[in-house]
Amino acid sequence: MLLALSLLPFYFCLLHPPSLSRPLLTKALNDLLSLYFLMNFDWKQKVVFITGASSGIGGALAIEFGRRGASLGLLARRADALSEIVNEIEKGSGRAVALPADVRDANAVRAAADELRAKFGRIDLLIANAGVGGTIDGARLDPVEFARVININLLGAVNAVAAVAPEMVEQGSGQLVAISSLAAYRGLPKSGAYCASKAALSAFFESLRLDLKGSGVGVTIIHPGFIKTPLTAGRDAQMPFLMELDDAVKKIIRAIEARKKSYAFPWQLASLVRLGMLMPSSVYDRVATKNSFRE
Ligand SMILES: NC(=O)c1ccc[n+]([C@@H]2O[C@H](COP(=O)([O-])OP(=O)(O)OC[C@H]3O[C@@H](n4cnc5c(N)ncnc54)[C@H](OP(=O)(O)O)[C@@H]3O)[C@@H](O)[C@H]2O)c1
Repeated sequence: MLLALSLLPFYFCLLHPPSLSRPLLTKALNDLLSLYFLMNFDWKQKVVFITGASSGIGGALAIEFGRRGASLGLLARRADALSEIVNEIEKGSGRAVALPADVRDANAVRAAADELRAKFGRIDLLIANAGVGGTIDGARLDPVEFARVININLLGAVNAVAAVAPEMVEQGSGQLVAISSLAAYRGLPKSGAYCASKAALSAFFESLRLDLKGSGVGVTIIHPGFIKTPLTAGRDAQMPFLMELDDAVKKIIRAIEARKKSYAFPWQLASLVRLGMLMPSSVYDRVATKNSFRE
């Protein structure tokens, strides 16, 4: 069924002029490639390194990867919370190791990656997920708080990539995944640091994708909307199309398995954000200031 659907654009291309059919053909080839990756993905063969694995998206991904048979290295600052997740994975006969560290410490992140490689032989997949929110009023900027968000959300991911990418390139295989955000696409009120960190994270991973072309190492950028996690818990601000964590995790895993280059969800909010990108600033400013997502 999936195969038949992905072949539809090829039939369309046979009937239409090249100018119309070329983008469709490219999309169809990409879809076919994704389908091939999806069908051949075997979690039992994967060693996965997740940053920010002690709660929320990272914790839920770790438990689901463990259930599917992957071997896991879990990094975050809270050692006790990591141990609880390792216990849960091991109860289900999975394999995981807790690697307590701060992503801002490049040496500690490299030491954690080395420990994971020593335990399970290699690293196949990095999920650069560690991140913090942060409400920042542009009229009263706090440079220290701004730097904290950038250091964790952006430079933390740089440290994680630096700790795994050279070995992946050497082994000729691997996948680097960034958990960015729909907030990466345009500035939002009181979100200067968060939007800047996620926009930079997405641009960093896009550059990585270009640099690693042909190396066998894939790059996937995930742009989620609002998901129920400790990060969003207790917020009074509006969160349109807020998703359950389990649903979000399923979508993220499918995008990873398909080795998608970029994946934005839920589709409703992703479509609105794409529409926002087409708006001239005068229109965008009116819409964005009326819809604050921060208290
Ligand atoms: N929830 C959403 O609606 C949403 C939407 C879009 C994108 N995201 C992104 O998804 C990622 C995960 O967020 P979440 O919603 O799952 O929030 P969360 O439950 O608060 O998880 C954040 C994780 O990052 C870790 N972390 C924070 N600072 C760290 C540091 N300095 N060093 C190492 N680990 C650190 C935390 O662990 P420790 O505190 O133990 O260190 C925790 O495991 C973030 O990058 C976030 O920006 C979330």
